[in-house]
Amino acid sequence: MSRKALIAANWKMYKTPAEAKAFVEAFLPLVANQTRDEIALFPSATSLTTVVAATAGSNVAVGLQNMHWAEEGAYTGETSAAMLKAAGATHTLIGHSERRQYFNETDELVNLKLHTALRRGIVPVVCIGEVLDEREAGKTADVLCTQLRGAFSGIAPEAAAPIVIAYEPVWAIGTGKTATPEIAADAHKIIRREVAQILSPAIAESVRILYGGSVKPENASALLTQHDIDGALVGGASLKPDSLAAIVNY
Ligand code: PGA
Repeated sequence: MSRKALIAANWKMYKTPAEAKAFVEAFLPLVANQTRDEIALFPSATSLTTVVAATAGSNVAVGLQNMHWAEEGAYTGETSAAMLKAAGATHTLIGHSERRQYFNETDELVNLKLHTALRRGIVPVVCIGEVLDEREAGKTADVLCTQLRGAFSGIAPEAAAPIVIAYEPVWAIGTGKTATPEIAADAHKIIRREVAQILSPAIAESVRILYGGSVKPENASALLTQHDIDGALVGGASLKPDSLAAIVNY
């Protein structure tokens, strides 16, 4: 079965609305003929409506980098699923390692957010990955499986089809150290095997598993041609239109 790849751009805390608009205007012509893969931009919340408007009618979707699990409430600084949808976004990142590291996002919160995203018809990109100490201690598989079990707790296989998983080894994020295609492919195999156990073999076969961590134009093709790698979550190299376009058009 062939899975349509997703190239996702995580802009993190970069770009004002004006900068985001300028990016989209330069980027769209560079990927206008791209039908092989899906493309999604994840701007900051303040640029969401600008990017939605600028990408209208194009082959580029828009998502938020983080979403709260509650319908609404006294959660200062947070964004709800309803707000995300009303702004015209269709995707959300969940459990990015920076959220886990700096904002105490636990597997329990990831799970709550995943339930909310699926209930609300938002495509969730669930991020998992081991830190360097865990890899060096030979615990990568354990860590990935624990994160997956936490994230998918109580998710019915029938509801799981929209889920996208991003494998992002934390030691490769923003460091310039990319996992080799073999290391990434190995982790993706582990993840797919675990998804078969937790959800179902059919979901394991269809779920898209993205690789993230210092993806750039120079290494995109070696990573994205691996059988179990179904796209990329790109941080630093997604901030320039030509660089992201080169990854999309690898
Ligand atoms: P990077 O970030 O491409 O800058 O390593 C990836 C990510 O954090 O999603």
